[in-house]
Amino acid sequence: MTVKIFDTPQVQDFLKTVAGLDQVGGSERAKQIVHRLLSDLYRLIDDFDVTPEEFWSAVSLMNELGKETQFGLLSPGLGFDHYLDMRLDAADAEAQRTGGTPRTIEGPLYVAGAPEAEGHARMDDGSDTASEVMWLTGQVRDTQGNPIPGAQVEIWHADAKGGYSFFDPTQSEYHLRRTILADADGRYSARSIIPSGYGVPKGSPTDQVLAALGRHGQRPAHIHFFISAPGHRHLTTQINLGGDPYTWDDFAFATREELVVNGRRIEDPAEADRRGLEGPFTEVVFDVELVATDAPELQIRHARPRALEDAAD
Ligand code: DHB
Ligand code: FE
Repeated sequence: MTVKIFDTPQVQDFLKTVAGLDQVGGSERAKQIVHRLLSDLYRLIDDFDVTPEEFWSAVSLMNELGKETQFGLLSPGLGFDHYLDMRLDAADAEAQRTGGTPRTIEGPLYVAGAPEAEGHARMDDGSDTASEVMWLTGQVRDTQGNPIPGAQVEIWHADAKGGYSFFDPTQSEYHLRRTILADADGRYSARSIIPSGYGVPKGSPTDQVLAALGRHGQRPAHIHFFISAPGHRHLTTQINLGGDPYTWDDFAFATREELVVNGRRIEDPAEADRRGLEGPFTEVVFDVELVATDAPELQIRHARPRALEDAAD
């Protein structure tokens, strides 16, 4: 079939009707966006000669994605999260809000309301005795290099199997999730376990989409951060641990050069003892620079549906 009907008046009029452009009610923005979206898809169907079989298999796949709440997982894989970051970066550059630690995607696995601690927290529940101990520490500063005492550092990461508490029901509540308030020198530290890389669930609808593109669904070992302080731009970022096979091949496109951190193995018993540890451990240092801003809306994370968000506030 090689028919081309997209540009006919019938189809163009039909699109306007479908998008409600001839109706007084509804949202003007919704109408404009849906009109554009449907136009692009109708044109695509014409140009690629999409068959009914192909169309309905796409509908079925979207139903599966929805049933397993995987749209949030697929979104980073299709680059949307990184694209939104690129737009925020460009807006910051245009407004001359430059410098500071770069942002990168939040990902779909944050849970609000993690326990708070001052200066230091232990993040793991002690159930995994086989994994390497991670000592995660750093200083929060402004772009002049002044420490920011009391800065709020929220951290979350996966366990040794690449699973996140809450989404992985085998882990204890808020396992590997903490909010730490930086000390008088702007410093924070956490005792945890070295996370493993993460992979989208095998055979899941997200995995099926990536497989059709000849792509994998793996992320390197990484640690998520929300960092904020009054008078400064809220920062959503992550570090990717160096030396992981996926450090530079992240399916979620979150890796940035400034955010790759190499852990340092410390075997000196005196150093372990100073931290109350029994054996060798890996220290991961992540210093953060926040950009000053007076705009209150830039000092908080943007709104987005998040697990337990309402319970936290
Ligand atoms: C996904 C998982 C993550 O842990 C993450 O940080 C980003 C994306 C995902 O499954 O899409
Ligand atoms: Fe993650």
